[in-house]
Amino acid sequence: METQLPADPVQAIERPQIVTQSLLYLDGVSVSFDGFRAINSLSLIIAPGEMRAIIGPNGAGKTTMMDIITGKTKPDTGDVIFDGHVDLTKLDETAIANLGIGRKFQKPTVFEMHTVEDNIEMAVKADRTVFGTLFSRHSAEIWRRVDELLGIVRLGDHRKRLAGDLSHGQKQWLEIGMLLAQDPKLLLVDEPAAGMTDVETGATADLLKDIARTHSVVVVEHDMGFIRELGVKVTCLHEGSVLAEGSLDQVSSDERVIEVYLGR
Ligand SMILES: Nc1ncnc2c1ncn2[C@@H]1O[C@H](COP(=O)(O)OP(=O)(O)OP(=O)(O)O)[C@@H](O)[C@H]1O
Ligand SMILES: [Mg+2]
Repeated sequence: METQLPADPVQAIERPQIVTQSLLYLDGVSVSFDGFRAINSLSLIIAPGEMRAIIGPNGAGKTTMMDIITGKTKPDTGDVIFDGHVDLTKLDETAIANLGIGRKFQKPTVFEMHTVEDNIEMAVKADRTVFGTLFSRHSAEIWRRVDELLGIVRLGDHRKRLAGDLSHGQKQWLEIGMLLAQDPKLLLVDEPAAGMTDVETGATADLLKDIARTHSVVVVEHDMGFIRELGVKVTCLHEGSVLAEGSLDQVSSDERVIEVYLGR
């Protein structure tokens, strides 16, 4: 179902091509907390279908940027445009989620007392898109989708286990599977590899690369091995703005990035 947006004259504005052709367009975005500028004239463009890695020191504003995209935090100034025309600064968190922006927080929030497959099934049933509303009563369709999602997040062999018995990494994958049930146009993932074993970290990079074939993804991570594995364009944030952007090799050889982040 097409999400019902509030009548908004801003949407009628003719926007430049750079905006209309972007999946996510941030320009001149700033937000202050008690006088401290956590995001400072931030500009960032994510193309449709792109996966982007975001790096930067603690406090750079990476999570706050995600808070702004998802509507948790409202910017003081600046443009935040989704899908070429939707002004996210005018919408609340629920409306933004319904547009197809899914967010994975650092701590997994799965239903520990339910099995892996039940967690996915609940997420599929909660899907508010066409699929969810039209097919919600056809259990064969639901289970076909559950199987598909379990395969994507590599938990097919663990489907009968209680989510609470999974490893930390497997719980993260389960939550990613639950987010994918909504088939988001954009998936925001904050530090997915934190607390994972090296093997799980490698598997998570593979998993995100698979997902990025059909979804746009913005992933924040401190693990440089993981970022290298992703092999995508990297943006380094510092003090709420973009410090450097380009391939990992370009960004990681930038003197300023070494100074504020990598050289620590
Ligand atoms: N709701 C808030 N109220 C007050 N200050 C905040 C709030 N959210 C973020 N900040 C501050 O804004 C700055 C940016 O924080 P943010 O969490 O976005 O950094 P980050 O880049 O995600 O860092 P990390 O790598 O440690 O997760 C920090 O100084 C933080 O303390
Ligand atoms: Mg953070």
